[in-house]
Amino acid sequence: MKRYKMAIVGATGLVGQEFINVLEQRDFPIDSIQLLASDRSAGKKLFVTHREIEVKETVPESFKRIDIALFSAGVEISHYFSPIAAQSGAVVIDNSSAFRMVSTVPLVVPEVNPEDIKWHKGIIANPNCSTIQMVVALYPLHKANPIKRIIVDTYQAVSGTGSAAVEELTAQAKQVLDGQATAPHVYPHQIAFNVLPEIDVFLDNGYTKEEWKLVEETRKIMHADDIAISATCVRVPVFMGHGEAVHIEFSQPMSPDEARHILAQAPGVKVLDDPAISLYPQPWAATGTDEVFVGRIRRDASHPNGLTMWVVADNLRKGAALNAVQIAEEMINRGWIHPGG
Ligand SMILES: NC(=O)c1ccc[n+]([C@@H]2O[C@H](COP(=O)([O-])OP(=O)(O)OC[C@H]3O[C@@H](n4cnc5c(N)ncnc54)[C@H](OP(=O)(O)O)[C@@H]3O)[C@@H](O)[C@H]2O)c1
Repeated sequence: MKRYKMAIVGATGLVGQEFINVLEQRDFPIDSIQLLASDRSAGKKLFVTHREIEVKETVPESFKRIDIALFSAGVEISHYFSPIAAQSGAVVIDNSSAFRMVSTVPLVVPEVNPEDIKWHKGIIANPNCSTIQMVVALYPLHKANPIKRIIVDTYQAVSGTGSAAVEELTAQAKQVLDGQATAPHVYPHQIAFNVLPEIDVFLDNGYTKEEWKLVEETRKIMHADDIAISATCVRVPVFMGHGEAVHIEFSQPMSPDEARHILAQAPGVKVLDDPAISLYPQPWAATGTDEVFVGRIRRDASHPNGLTMWVVADNLRKGAALNAVQIAEEMINRGWIHPGG
């Protein structure tokens, strides 16, 4: 079996750690692996398939003879090092937003647009976590009955912001329960026992950048420039797992049963939908899993062609690391990448 020389940039972060978990759990054909981060983490040791590996500082020479480089260290690092890695011969799969809307860079969710991988020029972008889970659930329905409009409200876990945010929620929750004052650092306000309708920066149009990512990325991945989309993205005091209330207007009416039937056969989707026994997707239960869970499927009482549903996934797995590894697997399975070449 062919084996690949891998690099993980941001290996010490939440997504980086999940990269290691996913590669191990899926028995990815690794020949060797470079764990890269900032100079702060250089010398730290991490385990990959029971082997202790030293973390190194990311430098331009890190990418020599690398076949696949998985990036999750933020926009600036991706902007600087991804082209260097690609020029060194690696295929870069980038988790940041640096290249997602660049027309020469494919933006890929393997269940939706795997063929787009083929036209990469060294960099493939992994979409935003909230976009990935939404398109996995919506694309099979869109193929059966073209979607005209989407209104989505997200309930996003703090792990989507990175390890500092997980620490902030933990510390603030204890402080509030102990009757102490909290001091926000990562978020503009206290996140413990609160919800914040602000994710990423505000744009001139009144939306946040996170909300606009959902609009633009969904259209690019689904090859559907005409879908009207409006999003409100909300940070909630949950550690893992994003939830989304999605309101869809189709070209023709679609019954909840038809949607359940289509989704039950869709790749990467699991339907959990039995209100009689309070069965519906929950972030807590989705943590550590690979599927996109869909439930609360019902007619939208406000539109004859409307359906409403609740979509949940693990933001660090399907929303980040798993999707990127699936892109790499897709390339291997289709013969689009070869070790050393
Ligand atoms: N969390 C999610 O759900 C999610 C989903 C999709 C995409 N993403 C994207 O993935 C990226 C990382 O997210 P995260 O949640 O893993 O964040 P995180 O937990 O804060 O980890 C950040 C990682 O970036 C590394 N890093 C920081 N500065 C660096 C530098 N100068 N050179 C090399 N490495 C550097 C850190 O290394 P040190 O330990 O040395 O500081 C760490 O490994 C972000 O771009 C984020 O937007 C995250």
